[in-house]
Amino acid sequence: MSKPDSNVLIAESEIQRRVGELAAQISADYAGKGELVLVGVLKGAFIFLADLSRRLTIPRVVEFIAVSSYESGSASSGAVRLVMDMRESIEGKHVLVVEDIVDSGHTMHYLMEMLNTRGAASVRACALLQKSGCAKVDVNIDYLGFHIADEWVVGYGLDYAEQDRTLPDIRVIQPED
Ligand code: IMP
Ligand code: MG
Repeated sequence: MSKPDSNVLIAESEIQRRVGELAAQISADYAGKGELVLVGVLKGAFIFLADLSRRLTIPRVVEFIAVSSYESGSASSGAVRLVMDMRESIEGKHVLVVEDIVDSGHTMHYLMEMLNTRGAASVRACALLQKSGCAKVDVNIDYLGFHIADEWVVGYGLDYAEQDRTLPDIRVIQPED
């Protein structure tokens, strides 16, 4: 799929450096607040969550959820559906949603609304990437790795038609490739 290394947008070393910074910030912010529930959004966040969770210095547990967007033709309608819920209750817990990328914001907005109805002590958002100028709904990302331009990216958990998720870095692809 994506062959040329010249398409690398964010190098592996740069990702790892930034993940370390985010982990330090999150560890400082939640220190002394009890166990943090990290909620990874499948599939795209699985590598980011693996790296981030291992670098935290606070008590934490890992949960996963999966969502899907209703598509109308090629454009997303903005409606999001929960296709897999987490196993444990988050009542009274501090929760951090961990996403790969925020584009229109619909997915993160839906998740924050849904989790906020479940009696958590707090719900915050962490995303590795956010596409600039793409927001259709306003959603605050408490911990953000990088802003990127409006291009399709793959690697480090992100895919194009299920390809290229396991690349160690983040690359831009042209869908016609
Ligand atoms: P949103 O609901 O429009 O913010 O879209 C967020 C979701 O779309 C992410 O969780 C990804 O699954 C997917 N997505 C958006 N842009 C990209 C991309 O450039 N590469 C891979 N997945 C993407
Ligand atoms: Mg995703």
